[in-house]
Amino acid sequence: MTFRDRYGPWALVTGASAGIGTEFARQLSEMGLNLVLVARRRQRMEDLARELENRHKIQLRIVTADLSQPDFLPLILSATESIDVGLLINNAGFGVASRFLEHDLEKELALLDVNCRAPVILSHVFGRQMAQRKRGGIIFVSSVSAYIATPFEASYAASKVYELFLAESLGYELKKDGVDVLALCPGSTDTEFHEIAGSSAVAAMSVQPVVELGLKKLGKKPVAIPGWHNRLLVYALKLTPRRMQTLLAGRVMGNLVTR
Ligand SMILES: NC(=O)c1ccc[n+]([C@@H]2O[C@H](COP(=O)([O-])OP(=O)(O)OC[C@H]3O[C@@H](n4cnc5c(N)ncnc54)[C@H](OP(=O)(O)O)[C@@H]3O)[C@@H](O)[C@H]2O)c1
Repeated sequence: MTFRDRYGPWALVTGASAGIGTEFARQLSEMGLNLVLVARRRQRMEDLARELENRHKIQLRIVTADLSQPDFLPLILSATESIDVGLLINNAGFGVASRFLEHDLEKELALLDVNCRAPVILSHVFGRQMAQRKRGGIIFVSSVSAYIATPFEASYAASKVYELFLAESLGYELKKDGVDVLALCPGSTDTEFHEIAGSSAVAAMSVQPVVELGLKKLGKKPVAIPGWHNRLLVYALKLTPRRMQTLLAGRVMGNLVTR
């Protein structure tokens, strides 16, 4: 069975206007999946859709939606009511890096909405549809941050733990429904993420191998960590006392915060 037969004919990618989400759209289009692109910046998604439509024989739909807002779901439902979404990529997300008490509270809460609430809603809605069809896949783009409490990026790291645990647990629950679930946990990746968060990137990987690994491991493993250095880091963390982990993370992040 091809990837398209297993997870097609449509994939929905949140955060498709940049970085890892754009790369998911590119690689999925190469495998012949039709795409629903979701993000706030419509022009970027239109440019991407034009490029992919010209290159591959696929259909694209664009949903301009702010996933931090309570009313995003009807927008996505109306764009997907007549199609079978066989693959959901919960990718949209952002971080806020600096001292917690200096953060804007509204932004902290928006982070929870985008990184946690939206993936729950979308996984529930599309997970049910996939379970009825007895096939499908859901990828949560978590992070290596899910493995370490991170001072100066406290809510972000906590939100990524949420996604990692949700993905691992749903992977177990949905197996009998024929739905594969993967937590993709990238380390530092070369996207707009760091600039938006207000931090510096260290040893950033390019988006291509990150996404390749996610698509390769879906259905084979519950968790995928791109890059040997990130896998080594996660392994080393498991051997390090938690208090020590937090001390180290605080030292490192304290130097990476740019605002
Ligand atoms: N880059 C890294 O080092 C790294 C490492 C580990 C994990 N990750 C995770 O990878 C995922 C993708 O991030 P990235 O690195 O590709 O960052 P990015 O280049 O900044 O892209 C983030 C994407 O999320 C979308 N997004 C953000 N807020 C949104 C909102 N309120 N509503 C709808 N869409 C929203 C953005 O679209 P609009 O702005 O157009 O809405 C954009 O398409 C995130 O979940 C991030 O936590 C990144």
